[in-house]
Amino acid sequence: MLSASGPRAGTLSAMCGIIGYAGRPDAVAGISAGGHGALDVVMEGLRRLEYRGYDSAGVAVLTPLGIEYRKKSGKLANLVAELAAAPLTPATTGIGHTRWATHGGPTDENAHPHLADNGRLAVIHNGIIENFAELKAELLDAGAEFVSETDTEVAAALLASIYRGDGDADLAKSMQLACQQLEGAFTLLAVHTDSPGTVVAARRNSPLVVGLGEGENFLGSDVSGFIDFTRRAVELGQDQVVTITPDTVAITDFYGEPAVGTEFHVNWDAAAAEKGGYDSFMEKEINDQPQAVGDTLLGRSDVDGRLTLDELRVSPEELKNVNKIMVLACGTSAYAGQVAKYAIEHWCRLPVEVELSHEFRYRDPIVDSNTLVVAISQSGETMDTLMAVRYAKEQGAKILAICNTNGSTIPRESDAVLYTHAGPEIAVASTKAFLAQITAAYLLGLYLAQIRGNKFQGEIKDILADLAKVPDKIQQVLDNSGQIKELAQLMKDTRSVLFLGRHVGFPVAMEGALKLKELAYIHAEGFAAGELKHGPIALIEEGQPVFVVVPSPRGRDSLHAKVVSNIQEIRARGAKTIVIAEEGDDAVKAYAEHVFYVPETPTLLAPLLTTVPLQIFACELASAKGFDVDQPRNLAKSVTVE
Ligand code: M6R
Repeated sequence: MLSASGPRAGTLSAMCGIIGYAGRPDAVAGISAGGHGALDVVMEGLRRLEYRGYDSAGVAVLTPLGIEYRKKSGKLANLVAELAAAPLTPATTGIGHTRWATHGGPTDENAHPHLADNGRLAVIHNGIIENFAELKAELLDAGAEFVSETDTEVAAALLASIYRGDGDADLAKSMQLACQQLEGAFTLLAVHTDSPGTVVAARRNSPLVVGLGEGENFLGSDVSGFIDFTRRAVELGQDQVVTITPDTVAITDFYGEPAVGTEFHVNWDAAAAEKGGYDSFMEKEINDQPQAVGDTLLGRSDVDGRLTLDELRVSPEELKNVNKIMVLACGTSAYAGQVAKYAIEHWCRLPVEVELSHEFRYRDPIVDSNTLVVAISQSGETMDTLMAVRYAKEQGAKILAICNTNGSTIPRESDAVLYTHAGPEIAVASTKAFLAQITAAYLLGLYLAQIRGNKFQGEIKDILADLAKVPDKIQQVLDNSGQIKELAQLMKDTRSVLFLGRHVGFPVAMEGALKLKELAYIHAEGFAAGELKHGPIALIEEGQPVFVVVPSPRGRDSLHAKVVSNIQEIRARGAKTIVIAEEGDDAVKAYAEHVFYVPETPTLLAPLLTTVPLQIFACELASAKGFDVDQPRNLAKSVTVE
């Protein structure tokens, strides 16, 4: 057995989309009609998983003549062209990979699959193998040769060396033994010419689900990889190895002990993951928002009209004893947490801290058994958040996940779960998941207020009634988006945009700025409006566009008046002010170049409306610049590396 020793080097791996397929010849899609069988299934899976990474892609199929593979840097379209130029033999077993490189160039050589055992073994991988440098040194000493810079090729070579040694030429056993030596986070899939009709996979800290078919079985980074073929899925536990054939699925731990997965039904279909007539997923997802919020609100009450959570493995008594909430999340999900802070503190009189997951772990955070950690994650796989959750759990905190992805790791490792029902979010920039997260966080706040007795049942009912009206109001914002789209077109050459907000408008401003950075690659900053005079106002010069999210004039007087003063301050210094305000707020007209109105709603719920014009603006401006709004450069949907 190779030992892990020696200096640790930088890792060269990926967080990626993975698909595996094993089918009987009569079951394989398209093969009887002259299609390419496994390749068709794998390519369809990659098309759906491409949002996870898109700097190279590759496939391998098991044919009677051996393993055939193609891989290409760049988007999936490059691989499609390669396959058209150099077709593969039809096959019934295959694996495919779409890559988001963390280190090392997105070259053809670094693309997956990686081959070993003289081309008889093909491996694909998602994650980072932290001890790859030590393993590589030992494998090199033992005579292995490498053609790429990746840790994946090291895993392939390790697997091959074990296969020819202690693994007794048994692919599943060799995978178990290899995983015992690997450190870090990984999903691995392997096929070997000695095992026709078989794909062996393993996971640690990285996502993998099994899809169950009739005479065919699937593996995917998430269910969208095989949603065209089956909606029956099995979630795997941590540190498990799974072997699929057309008719069997066998799961063990890394030591060969049999294990079981949990079967679940995917409650959305392939159409939900399609563009539905829009030019981009992003546009579709912005337009899905009334439904995302509506669905997230659905079915939350028991027969007595009291709020319930989806999965609660922590008693209401324990929740009553909570004396602090700590929200952990990254990016847009963290902004949802910041919105939640205003509502939960107000409704529950409980202190709420919001912290970026990656910052939380590296200080000395004060969390104990009376802390409720709320982990917000669309994907449920964000490594920074997962690691923060594990750390908080070790300190005795109770964990509640707000998540959009059924069966993903974060909710599985949490004590309680509130699922958002936004449906699959494919565009890399989060939109509908954000509104659904805010909605779920409100439900959580109301639930806590209910069990802690901070609010009367009637008050909770009133807020729920206000929330129930929100989907229609979002629709009104969408129906009136022509003006904001026109402005985005006119501003396509703008080089910098600032966003201001106060109270719940502050996280909305930061989210508006993030959307513009992500999609249009222009400088954008979100500020608390009150902070302006402490420095950022120096940025204002003639013509500087500034979006201002104005609170309702029906709310606290001082809040509205303060923001109007802020608008005046920047306008006096030459800013071009673009205001998002509530219908009927005529006071802002005098100070704004452009005003976009959203329907009236209680102040705390306003982010569900005021965010939408900012999303539309970013999407439209980026499209006008000719950018791909679904797959912005340098990003990936699910950040499964730290
Ligand atoms: O899946 P998660 O919600 O945990 O992802 C967190 C962030 O990576 C994500 O919100 C990211 O900021 C989006 N690209 C924002 O549009």
